[in-house]
Amino acid sequence: MIRYTDVTVRYPNGTVGLDSVDLEIPDGQFVVVVGLSGAGKSTLIRTMNGLVPVTSGELEVAGRRVDGASKRQLRELRASVGMIFQSFNLVTRTTVLKNVLVGRLHATPTLPSLFGVYRKEDTELAFSALERVGIVEKAYTRASQLSGGQQQRVAIARVLAQQPQVLLADEPVASLDPPTANMVMRDLQRINRDLGITTVVNLHFLDLARTYAQRIIGMRAGRIVFDGTPDEADDAVFASIYGRSLTADDILAAAEAPVSLDTAARAPREEAPRG
Ligand SMILES: Nc1ncnc2c1ncn2[C@@H]1O[C@H](COP(=O)(O)OP(=O)(O)O)[C@@H](O)[C@H]1O
Ligand SMILES: [Mg+2]
Repeated sequence: MIRYTDVTVRYPNGTVGLDSVDLEIPDGQFVVVVGLSGAGKSTLIRTMNGLVPVTSGELEVAGRRVDGASKRQLRELRASVGMIFQSFNLVTRTTVLKNVLVGRLHATPTLPSLFGVYRKEDTELAFSALERVGIVEKAYTRASQLSGGQQQRVAIARVLAQQPQVLLADEPVASLDPPTANMVMRDLQRINRDLGITTVVNLHFLDLARTYAQRIIGMRAGRIVFDGTPDEADDAVFASIYGRSLTADDILAAAEAPVSLDTAARAPREEAPRG
């Protein structure tokens, strides 16, 4: 269970990242957070593993109190809350397997792991995580030789090796092409269903949110302005979350097949393809 009670985040420069947020996410839920850039999505996710401290209010994640936690308590929290990023954050000069073993570090004696010696059970966990994302045959390949989609799968395997209770993903598909983005979202969905890991994913694209979310949370100016099912999150709801009408940039499928969605066809299309 993740529970926010009247949580506000004010950054040192005075910017409000979260504004009086109340939110409960039960164990095992697959939640997608949507909103324009600057809405507070990353701030929300980063409070969940203590990367961004809350200024006021109460926050509990995976049975642990996050507000007011000591350094040691934060380390324990981060061991049970895994995070993946848009930029994958792999060590690209080393192998896939070694990258995944990093996920075991919190549970492994420091000295042997410094010398690259891992326990058999850690290596087994790493291999089974790689199997789960379908790239076990790349275990001894250098991460730099993988495609973006494969690198993101390694990042997911690294988090799985950590055996987390909560998985956080901050725009994990923002730098991937549409088919690869869907593949990564399917991986996350399957992991959530198979292992019951509570999953919170920040996304910009409304079609991805509708396809994969169990629950959609809409943010605007640090506040939760929508909380409902994908069925309830129609175009009008998205327009109200975004505070403007929808455009092709809000729909991942529009990047490849502009006429495949009504919303995309109606919206003005920009010439430049998304990077
Ligand atoms: N480290 C920071 N210092 C100051 N302001 C920040 C910082 N990080 C984010 N913000 C501000 O907090 C607000 C929410 O940002 P963010 O959570 O990154 O939104 P999103 O992920 O939805 O784009 C924005 O106004 C942003 O400029
Ligand atoms: Mg962000």
